[in-house]
Amino acid sequence: MSEKQEIVTIDGPSGVGKSTLSRQVAAALGYTYLDTGAMYRAVALFFKRQQIDLDDEQAVCFALSGLDIQLFPAEKEDGDVGVLVNGQDESQAIRTPELGMLASRVSAIPAVRAQLTAMQQAIGRSGKIVAEGRDTGTVVFPAAAWKFYLEAEPQERARRRVAQLRAAGQEVDFEELLKQTLKRDRDDQERTLAPLKKAEDAVIIDTTCLNIQAVCAKILQIIQD
Ligand code: DC
Repeated sequence: MSEKQEIVTIDGPSGVGKSTLSRQVAAALGYTYLDTGAMYRAVALFFKRQQIDLDDEQAVCFALSGLDIQLFPAEKEDGDVGVLVNGQDESQAIRTPELGMLASRVSAIPAVRAQLTAMQQAIGRSGKIVAEGRDTGTVVFPAAAWKFYLEAEPQERARRRVAQLRAAGQEVDFEELLKQTLKRDRDDQERTLAPLKKAEDAVIIDTTCLNIQAVCAKILQIIQD
């Protein structure tokens, strides 16, 4: 068997608690937290601003060649990772539901996946990271030593996302967000390239009735065993 990388992967659908958990697990282990979704959101924002036709492969590839994405740690301990898009701080702009939907569309484009997967693998080369997303355990880091797949009932996931967005000052409607969550999950699961799915060797955790502390403790126990 090939050698395992000192990497934790946490995959699952939107609103399942991946970000908060990944941040806490990374802090507890002294690892770097890699939010791969933030990178897809950054590409989506860049394409939107540049008015790139997502069906135009050449335009997409050309735009990608002029894109630089840098992640930086959140200012607040419980905040989202920050993102610089070509040097511009877009940390707030990428966190809207609209950008989440657009990121999902953009993430099905082969050239986008190839570029971001390569960047993520470069970040993870020396290990000691907690990577969070849809395909981190299956495609980006198949040799990760610890893989987790989180799931939760859609209603509960939408409820969590609404609470999170409202806490960040965004006005969102529960029913609309639930509809979007279901569509995004379906699209992420059904795309041919690196779809959202459980890695065969992932530990599956249903977080519907568990709080973050309980899930975090469970993950750390498995890792430190
Ligand atoms: O985790 P998030 O909501 O920030 O992700 C936004 C979208 O990006 C998600 O709907 C699908 C895409 N994504 C992906 O395809 N692969 C990843 N590893 C992370 C995110």
